[in-house]
Amino acid sequence: MSPPFILPRIGSIHDPIRLAVMISGGGSGLSSLLKFQAKQPCCHKIVLILADSEGAGGLEKGRSSGIESLGISIPTEIPRIERRLAHEEIINRHLISSNIELIVLSGYMRILTPTFVGKWKGRLVNIHPSLLPDFPGAHAHRDVLSSGSSLTGCTVHLVDEGVDTGPILAQREVSVMPDDDVNSLQERVKLVEHVLYPEVIDLLCTGQISL
Ligand code: GRF
Repeated sequence: MSPPFILPRIGSIHDPIRLAVMISGGGSGLSSLLKFQAKQPCCHKIVLILADSEGAGGLEKGRSSGIESLGISIPTEIPRIERRLAHEEIINRHLISSNIELIVLSGYMRILTPTFVGKWKGRLVNIHPSLLPDFPGAHAHRDVLSSGSSLTGCTVHLVDEGVDTGPILAQREVSVMPDDDVNSLQERVKLVEHVLYPEVIDLLCTGQISL
């Protein structure tokens, strides 16, 4: 039987929920959450940033904000079949030693194993750049454009053992323009993501979301 979703405790300004943000790229979503937290007293704070490579641009954003920011690469020295689990074990050790209470996936491009998800289920959120359940997977914008749809958007969801299948917490729509390409669409959807994701994280950390 798959484990239940256990949501984070309700945070307070004096005892905020300790967040880890996991990234693979430039971290524009990470920046939007940092800005949200800097603007007002919050019931959550980012205390750890993890990337799946030292080359992830977002690590520098974390470091310049004084947040522990680590690039943890897949351990290529061990047999391929064991690598994913070994990588996740290293990640998990950092999460535990930083007393993380909620993991925010923000452009993290690896699929997490059911073993990892099971440990964090309900305390693991993701943002996906489409209106799920439509267009899951790593190429949402490309798939939206080739479908000819005039509407897309973004979805914040809890992560379960599937790919982009967990319970949906919030969605926001974005129009597809006739002259859009993957880049223009991605940039317009990101603008909306950068508002929606911090808002939903805030609701989750203040006990305003239930399943
Ligand atoms: C976002 O579009 C998110 O939906 C997707 O990756 C992008 C994040 O990129 N999964 P960034 O590194 O935060 O700029």
